[in-house]
Amino acid sequence: MNKSILDYETVELDDENSALVIIDQTKLPSLTEIVNLKTAEEIWDAIYLLKVRGAPAIGVAAAFGIYLLSKKIETEDYTAFYQEFCRQKEYLNSARPTAVNLSWALNRMEQVCVSNKDKSVAEIKELLKQEAISIKEEDIRVCKSIGEYGLTLIKPGDGILTHCNAGQLATCKYGTATAPIYLGLERGYNLRVFADETRPLLQGARLTAYELHSAGVDVTLICDNMSATVMRNGWVNAVFVGCDRVAANGDVANKIGTSVVATVAKRYNVPFYVCAPTSTIDMNTPTGADITIEQRPASEVTDMWYKERMAPEGIKVFNPAFDVTDHDLISGIVTEYGVAREPYAESLREIFSKV
Ligand code: MRU
Repeated sequence: MNKSILDYETVELDDENSALVIIDQTKLPSLTEIVNLKTAEEIWDAIYLLKVRGAPAIGVAAAFGIYLLSKKIETEDYTAFYQEFCRQKEYLNSARPTAVNLSWALNRMEQVCVSNKDKSVAEIKELLKQEAISIKEEDIRVCKSIGEYGLTLIKPGDGILTHCNAGQLATCKYGTATAPIYLGLERGYNLRVFADETRPLLQGARLTAYELHSAGVDVTLICDNMSATVMRNGWVNAVFVGCDRVAANGDVANKIGTSVVATVAKRYNVPFYVCAPTSTIDMNTPTGADITIEQRPASEVTDMWYKERMAPEGIKVFNPAFDVTDHDLISGIVTEYGVAREPYAESLREIFSKV
């Protein structure tokens, strides 16, 4: 039987060959190319170029990545080891600024060094490996739990709209925004999904439509500017999106275009849910205005996917990778501990009391 895209691991550790193994997502859906990353530069590039992408998957890749880089540090002296660990950590952390999972996972790995500084460097390396494996295993459990809570918000036969890819390819299994959809599929919900294509990098068309279609979900691809039409037509009962960073007041940074969908959903009274593992909630960032938004090259807008450049030479281009959705447009933030609702400053604090 042919292997489906869902049968591949998004991020894997090949410890024997000291490699981080990923699917090169820039080639999907036409080519499933598995790549082995061994150097710091290869791992950094893979994150920056979105070969591995989606907040939780970036976190897991960084955890395995820093473990592999620490394995190469040749010293028995803790101070020298820790200094080089921190240098490599800062380098990986600079690959992308918005998804907090990158620094979250790297900080967790650093904490392993700090809390075990009395142990030998060899023992610390082994503990780093175990921590990275735990981060991956937790991601699977967390996504499943988000799926269970998400499923309580919809009913069989519902239409769901999603933006970008917060699917299995953005995590280690289930996805976040797609988790209720996959669980609904297992339980005969017959959901109808609308996937925004998601300009300019087309994660919705290339990844979400691909993985849901491969799973047998009823999925319809739409251009980003069609979400108002499908909502006005009454075809959408709920929007589920993922996120890259949730601020303490409930403002959410997610793929560019998300705030447009949220605004339209409000207009047509469609509940708008953000699926967020607690690893994506940053209580140290007070509001959306404090989130650094990644700016990406103009060529992604003017050239990518086209046979020839399609915009005039010399034209000014604005290409932010993410936008901020204000908390008052969000009906609920679905975490692995339950659904947070307004006022988010309180409900998110309550969620964190369970972590
Ligand atoms: O630039 P990307 O493809 O990494 O952006 C991905 C998103 O915006 C996702 O919605 C988000 O990371 C959540 S993934 C579960």
